[in-house]
Amino acid sequence: MARKALIAANWKMYKTPAEAKAFVDAFLPLVAGHTRDEIALFPSPVLLPTVVEAAKGSNVAVGAQNIHFAEEGAYTGETSIGQLKAVGGTHTLIGHSERRQYFAETDEIVNKKLLAALKHGVVPIVCVGEVLEERESGNTANVLKTQVTGAFADITPEMAKPIVIAYEPVWAIGTGKTATPEMAAEAHRMIRAEVAKLLGAEIAEGMRILYGGSVKPDNATALIGQEEIDGALVGGASLKPDSFEKIVKY
Ligand code: PGA
Repeated sequence: MARKALIAANWKMYKTPAEAKAFVDAFLPLVAGHTRDEIALFPSPVLLPTVVEAAKGSNVAVGAQNIHFAEEGAYTGETSIGQLKAVGGTHTLIGHSERRQYFAETDEIVNKKLLAALKHGVVPIVCVGEVLEERESGNTANVLKTQVTGAFADITPEMAKPIVIAYEPVWAIGTGKTATPEMAAEAHRMIRAEVAKLLGAEIAEGMRILYGGSVKPDNATALIGQEEIDGALVGGASLKPDSFEKIVKY
């Protein structure tokens, strides 16, 4: 079954509204008419209205890097899914390794966020991946299994269709080290097998699994060209329009 690739830009805590608008204004003409892949930008919450407005009517979707699972309430510093939708955001990252590492996000929290995103019709990109120690001690398969199982608690096959997974080996994020295409494909197969156990072969076959971790214009083709790899989640190399364009057009 052909899975349409998704190429996603994770801008992390970079760009002002003026810089974000300048990016979108420069980027849209570069990818106008590009329908082979889906494209999505993930800016900081304060940039969302600007980026949504600038990308309106284009082939570029906009989402959040993080959302809270509650509908609303006394959660200082957080953003609800309702707020994201109200400004035109359609996607959200969930459980990025930086959220797990610096903001103590657990698989249980990831699961709550995933359930909330699905309930509200926001496309979730659930991030999983092992740290270097776990890879070197031969624990990658176990870690991925635990993360996928934890994230997917109470998810039924009927609910699961919109879910996208991003496999991001933590040792490859922002380090310039990438998993080789074969390594990434192997991890993707493990993840897909886990999803098949939980939700059945058909859902697993249709689920997009992106690769993230030092994706650059010069390695994008080899990575996304793997049959198992259904797109990319790009950090550093997504900050400049021409660099991200090259990855989109891998
Ligand atoms: P990177 O980040 O491309 O800069 O390694 C990827 C990510 O954290 O999603």
